Amino acid sequence: MKRTKINLLLERDAGLEDVLVNGWVRTRRDAKTFSFIEINDGSALKNIQVIADATLPNYDDIRKLSTGSAVAIRGVLAPSQGGGQKWEIQAKQVEIISLAPESYPLQKKRHTDEFLRTIAHLRPRTNKYGAAFRIRSELSYAVHHYFRERGFRYIHTPILTGSDCEGAGEMFRVTTMDLAAVPVIDKHTDYSADFFGTEANLTVSGQLSAEMFALSLGDVYTFGPTFRAENSNTRRHAAEFWMIEPEMAFCDLEGNMDLGEDLIKHLIGFIMDHCPDDLELFARFVDKKLRGTLDNIVNSSFVRLPYREAIAILEKSGRKFTYPVSFGLDLQTEHERFLTEQHFKKPVILYDYPKSIKPFYMRVNDDQETVAAMDILVPSIGEIIGGSQREERLAVVEARMNEMNMEKEPYWWYLESRMYGSVPHSGFGLGFERLLMLITGISNIRDVIPFPRTPGSIDF
Ligand code: 4AD
Ligand code: MG
Repeated sequence: MKRTKINLLLERDAGLEDVLVNGWVRTRRDAKTFSFIEINDGSALKNIQVIADATLPNYDDIRKLSTGSAVAIRGVLAPSQGGGQKWEIQAKQVEIISLAPESYPLQKKRHTDEFLRTIAHLRPRTNKYGAAFRIRSELSYAVHHYFRERGFRYIHTPILTGSDCEGAGEMFRVTTMDLAAVPVIDKHTDYSADFFGTEANLTVSGQLSAEMFALSLGDVYTFGPTFRAENSNTRRHAAEFWMIEPEMAFCDLEGNMDLGEDLIKHLIGFIMDHCPDDLELFARFVDKKLRGTLDNIVNSSFVRLPYREAIAILEKSGRKFTYPVSFGLDLQTEHERFLTEQHFKKPVILYDYPKSIKPFYMRVNDDQETVAAMDILVPSIGEIIGGSQREERLAVVEARMNEMNMEKEPYWWYLESRMYGSVPHSGFGLGFERLLMLITGISNIRDVIPFPRTPGSIDF
């Protein structure tokens, strides 16, 4: 007989004579002549209630079923006698697959997020984390759906790379050399002896590769893992995270902002439509203002403001910030959050940042002082998108690389794309986990990643 899932049963309009579900026991309550067993199989937030009658041949064992035990239930799907649920299963057979001992850590009580991080292998069995990871799955699907509907091609950009896209030097090294005997020439590591014959890293962004494909296939995107060895232990930074990176040929900064705004609104709307039960859990128990925040983002038009004007607003705000504010300094989370939460009370797209704080590939504006960069800031998170129009003029990008003392040789292929059929093009990176934090109200990035990697922490 074919097994089914609880989410499919709960949606049904009519009962069924014979169903088979597998799952884990959440609770068991015994009456005189039968037991109620609440089963969850991870397919939905809701459990299904099973009525196990004392006439079942293994009823003595059924009365020993503990929280966390695994069972297979065969029975009749029938309208529930009691309140609280539409359907219940009247069991014809309860097979005990495995009995969880009393040490099972997820007994029926509220656990802290901090504790649950120490049992990341079991936390997806809780209501909250089950919901978070179902939403994560739906959101991934929504990303591909969004781009495919709009004619974007999905490009698998490499994870192993020889270049540092962001130029921030926050890369994890990849090597097969014996670290106890690294070959050195003139006090420098001799990478010619290494696997690739040169330095290799985990990618911080797929952008440079995506640009090559935008300049070939038109509109493209990558969506994959990226890695940053930032030693910042914040609630918004992970060492391994996923980034959605669209790249569009024949597109300027304004078109780039339009896509970023539309993408964020669409993805939030998708989860509101497709994950109502899971989202309701977060709105009730995690962030009471969540509905308002999400409605506000979906329905507002984002403010678009040059960086220079944002600096003026911050300077005039009369706020005491921890970090200084002035033209030429990067904005910190506290500044970003002030702008989006207090001042404008909606998402803000800042653009035209000083070139001194941005990477080499961003297009230099006519003022020679700023670049066509754009960051999208949202309430409670701050920066969720970072992007730009790219510098398509060969001489200008070379001049920028010289200015920044970059070695040009490893980027020969990137520079060639500016020699042969170069066109204006633009793109951005949307932090997938930051979007999940926004959608669920979960305040720590460690709690939207199945097995998070942060400084000093690579368990599981
Ligand atoms: O602003 P970033 O550094 O932009 C880039 O890497 C560009 N090359 C992207 C592009 O234009 N194709 O990163 C983009 C986004 C940030 O806005 C943030 O949401 C997320 O990636 N992000 C992180 N998320 C979690 N942990 C980290 N350590 C992150 N660093 C960046
Ligand atoms: Mg950024």
